[in-house]
Amino acid sequence: GPEELRFDGRVVIVTGAGAGLGRAYALLFGSRGASVVVNDLGGGRHGDGSSTKSADAVVDEIKKNGGKAVANYDSVLDGAKIVKTAIDTFGRIDVVVNNAGILRDRSFAKMSEEDWDLVQNVHLKGAFKTTQAAWPYLVKQRYGRIIMTASNSGLYGNFGQANYAAAKMGLVGLANTLSIEGQGRNINTNVIIPTAASRLTENILPPELLEQLKPELIAPVVVWLCHEKCTENGSIIESATGWAGKSHLVSSSGSALRQDPSDKVTPEDVERRWSAITDMSSVKRFDTIEEKTAQLVTQIEKVQSENSAPQEPDLFKHTY
Ligand code: NAI
Repeated sequence: GPEELRFDGRVVIVTGAGAGLGRAYALLFGSRGASVVVNDLGGGRHGDGSSTKSADAVVDEIKKNGGKAVANYDSVLDGAKIVKTAIDTFGRIDVVVNNAGILRDRSFAKMSEEDWDLVQNVHLKGAFKTTQAAWPYLVKQRYGRIIMTASNSGLYGNFGQANYAAAKMGLVGLANTLSIEGQGRNINTNVIIPTAASRLTENILPPELLEQLKPELIAPVVVWLCHEKCTENGSIIESATGWAGKSHLVSSSGSALRQDPSDKVTPEDVERRWSAITDMSSVKRFDTIEEKTAQLVTQIEKVQSENSAPQEPDLFKHTY
């Protein structure tokens, strides 16, 4: 079979690693030779309180299995302290798995500013702070692997999770840009979209389903994404129940809104073409902002050349 994927000599930070998915990631990294910083402030699922117990328990478990690990109890909002623990203890940092999270679910009408801020802070700002503290080390050594944790709630929305969904899509945007800024320096950033049984989902999903959603079934996907052999960058990878796949935003082919480059565009022009604009039967995928810009340039050229041709523009025919 293939050679075992090892992390000997690599230093890995897993945030929120005292429980759930983060714990499963930390244990698997530890069993593959990584030196693991097990970060967890050990609070409640709504962001209340703190305790050193959960991080300590995971460190003990990694060490008991012959691995290397150190606990860190800071909030991800103090990301520099988490990175300092990695540097002080192990002398370097290679991998950052941004996983810490809380929920403050409420219908939008009832959502308080505190519910909004706490969730934005832990998920989005915490990932910013922790990753930015590690970034100079990754740039200097020209190597790094970063994971952002998003959610299907972000991609599709979910009742009662306006704060959480917004933060999770924020992490997708953050990963998209870091994947560009890290390119050429062998710093790869990817997004994991997990669905797992944990205290965040224990009273949301039915018990039969929870049994098939063990975090241990997702950890191998995250560990692979963080291995030096994995060249994936800027991708959204979904995993649950012993399955993994890749997600991508897609765009319709769209419709021109005018015949002539000198024409104005009216709301009625938009109304008339609405079904063509929103027709998703032949979607396109764009991998970079340059490809997206090129599509717009092509559209300008198309209208200009069709304008110079005497016959009725083609794009008009199927609109009516
Ligand atoms: P969990 O509640 O079991 O684990 C999250 C851990 O993060 C906890 O141990 C908590 O103490 C820690 N934490 C919270 N705030 C922190 C902070 N400020 N600093 C450091 N640590 C902090 O939850 P689970 O399910 O394992 O979630 C892990 C990540 O996966 C989260 O980002 C969550 O939003 C995401 N996720 C989970 C899904 C699921 O189905 N379980 C679905 C989609 C995303």
